[in-house]
Amino acid sequence: MHRFPSKTAWSPEHISTVWFDSHFNHAATRVIDWVGAEMDLDNASSILDFGCGGGVTTLGVALRYPSVEVHGVDVGDKFLQLPDLVTEQLHLQQLPDNLHFHRIQPLQPLAEKHAVDAVFSWSVFEHVPQSDIPAIFTDLHGTIKEGGLFFLQIEPLYYSPWGSHLRRFVDIPWAHLFWPSERLHDVVMNYDGEIPAQHQGHQYHALDMEDFKRFHLEEFSSLNRITADQIRMHVQDAGFEVVREQRLNMDIIVPEVLLEQHRKEDLLTNGILLLAKK
Ligand SMILES: C[S@@+](CC[C@H](N)C(=O)[O-])C[C@H]1O[C@@H](n2cnc3c(N)ncnc32)[C@H](O)[C@@H]1O
Repeated sequence: MHRFPSKTAWSPEHISTVWFDSHFNHAATRVIDWVGAEMDLDNASSILDFGCGGGVTTLGVALRYPSVEVHGVDVGDKFLQLPDLVTEQLHLQQLPDNLHFHRIQPLQPLAEKHAVDAVFSWSVFEHVPQSDIPAIFTDLHGTIKEGGLFFLQIEPLYYSPWGSHLRRFVDIPWAHLFWPSERLHDVVMNYDGEIPAQHQGHQYHALDMEDFKRFHLEEFSSLNRITADQIRMHVQDAGFEVVREQRLNMDIIVPEVLLEQHRKEDLLTNGILLLAKK
């Protein structure tokens, strides 16, 4: 008897970009490790990825837990390109049935439609206007079932050495805090080196180099300036109890002039991973 391969059989040996690997493997397994340490994921019914972007991390969780309904929500629609991407990167014939994507409006309430065991968010809350964060966390609290979990990751945070998200063009720590914005703009636009493989995301392949640079300058100007302490405080204010936290600290010398304006801790905290319980 001939056995056809399952439509959701995936072949990780075809992954050819660092960017895909960093989401499908690294980010998805971090989410699973953190959430799975406090919850039996095999017996969970649904999980939501807030700010899922292209949906690669969402897919990474959905394929590893086929019995869990995994919902990705985002204000953008990059997840529409996922089927083509996974044909190329995983030789996957179709997206799994337990994976669902929803395009939402900023601040659209999710608690009205979803009741999930856990919410996760990877590299999102530095891109959301800071003033929206309390309302979003309160809504996510309403979206999670009693005893459920909220996991978030942010890296880099704004005040950290490469908090501009522009390191692919400018490798000077805190350049975004030192330099006037015109100088930062000019250095980025005049950059003519290679883009490191881990920074060649979706935009790198979709845009020409001029537009790629403009995209990242616009992204920089839209970043919020939230600190790790503030994120933790907002999570608690929304009604969650923090059960685990990891701050990604850097060990480099901070110029005196920055210490006059900012807390050393904020300047050296590159990122945060946080797990909270409802
Ligand atoms: C840097 S991307 C990260 C995407 C994905 N989590 C990943 O790791 O590839 C940030 C994402 O947050 C989304 N986003 C920003 N504000 C949002 C909001 N208010 N609600 C939902 N998604 C939002 C953006 O559209 C974008 O896809």
